[in-house]
Amino acid sequence: MTTNLASDQNAHVFPSDFIFGAATASYQTEGAVNEDGRGMSIWDTFCATPGKIYRGDNGDIACDAYHRTAEDLDLLKNLNLNGYRFSIAWPRILPEGTGAINQKGIDYYNRIIDGLLERNISPAATIYHWDLPQPLQDKGGWINRDTAEYLADYAGICADAFGDRVEQFITINEPQIVSRLGYRIGVHAPGIADPIQGGIATHHILLAHGLAAQAIKASRNGAKPVGITIDLTDVVALDDSAKEEAAQIDMEVNGLYLDPVVLGSYPNIRRQEMLPPEDVIMDGDMKIISTNIDFLGVNYYQPHIIKTISQEGIKFNEFAYDYHPTVIGVRPDAMPVTAMGWLVDPTGLERILHKVSALTNLPIYITENGCAVNDYTDPSGNIHDHERISYLEGHLMSCWRAIEAGINLKGYYHWSLLDNFEWAEGYSKRFGLVYVDFPTGKRTPKDSALFYAKVAKSKTLSA
Ligand code: FCB
Repeated sequence: MTTNLASDQNAHVFPSDFIFGAATASYQTEGAVNEDGRGMSIWDTFCATPGKIYRGDNGDIACDAYHRTAEDLDLLKNLNLNGYRFSIAWPRILPEGTGAINQKGIDYYNRIIDGLLERNISPAATIYHWDLPQPLQDKGGWINRDTAEYLADYAGICADAFGDRVEQFITINEPQIVSRLGYRIGVHAPGIADPIQGGIATHHILLAHGLAAQAIKASRNGAKPVGITIDLTDVVALDDSAKEEAAQIDMEVNGLYLDPVVLGSYPNIRRQEMLPPEDVIMDGDMKIISTNIDFLGVNYYQPHIIKTISQEGIKFNEFAYDYHPTVIGVRPDAMPVTAMGWLVDPTGLERILHKVSALTNLPIYITENGCAVNDYTDPSGNIHDHERISYLEGHLMSCWRAIEAGINLKGYYHWSLLDNFEWAEGYSKRFGLVYVDFPTGKRTPKDSALFYAKVAKSKTLSA
């Protein structure tokens, strides 16, 4: 074998046990909403509410993943991936949210988990990726403290049923999005736009995390690695006088969710209505929220770049920050944006990893990272998504550099394996490594999938 020295020197090799995975979530991919005893979730209700979802789309069929388990697991295998992060639909396991267990729901996730293990792919299961059973919303959803207890009971059921094979449990996906988009702004289910309820929901969902982590540890299968997934944004101030506001914004979008989990306290946020009202924080809650976990999941998509507002006000490619009138958000001219309008900045991921590791020694997994592209199939049926390849390559490079710098980063799950139901955006935004033709369900790996498959196989990024 001949060795190409130049390319060897430029090869960025990952640790041999590094997870190169992909992620999905139940409501976004499964479909089969009325099958095998699944109960209603708040997303079924929200989608049926006129005006909430782009074009009136819903998750009734989605990627039809419920009926295509073997095909999707084969895709993961063919892409050489060694990890799959999926979520368990609470209304499939407990159609009423509490009470009777639906065996057919358990069977479905058993098929996924066993199928993964047969293919040597490590199963990482998210307990809650936003599809709250509707009967629990009828009792107040995340405004009702009991929901945290119900989630813990459900997490315990999952740990008892699957914990002999699932290698990682993630309690909650993105508490920030649940409370901000679901309760503060209302563009996600359950569609409430009330800052006070946003603060209450924040506390209850974090409490649910802590109680669920404890329930998973107490499972009859013994303690399993458990963590939480928090979406983090790198907040960058472009000038000195924007630094103070940047620090406040950082606490509102990141610290409010991260600090309670890793430090056991809420940050010092100036805007009182961002914080949970004092009377919802009971004695002992912060201890529960900061209960010992085994890893931290980080979702990273884009940075927030801000600067002091100029005398002329807001210009092209700048936008106002609610509640922070002295600063504006900036889209720098040279920085690409995705089809979501999100900034592409892989260095932000690296900075986030450094910030998180300064706060905690927990092993870190990137549980989501990816981009929407206006993908289309060419006449030969191929999808040349060079934007996604470049996004993926840049962010993997940031992961490699972070590991080189000594950060305990153990894996990367790309969002997403499949194009899927992108919440309020319906099917208009494609995030998949694999193209889904929604009318037929046909799957076609995009060029980015082939690129990722090579990296995952060789565990190497070549410069
Ligand atoms: C994250 C969600 C995930 C997906 C991506 C694009 O906030 O966790 O379900 O929608 O964004």
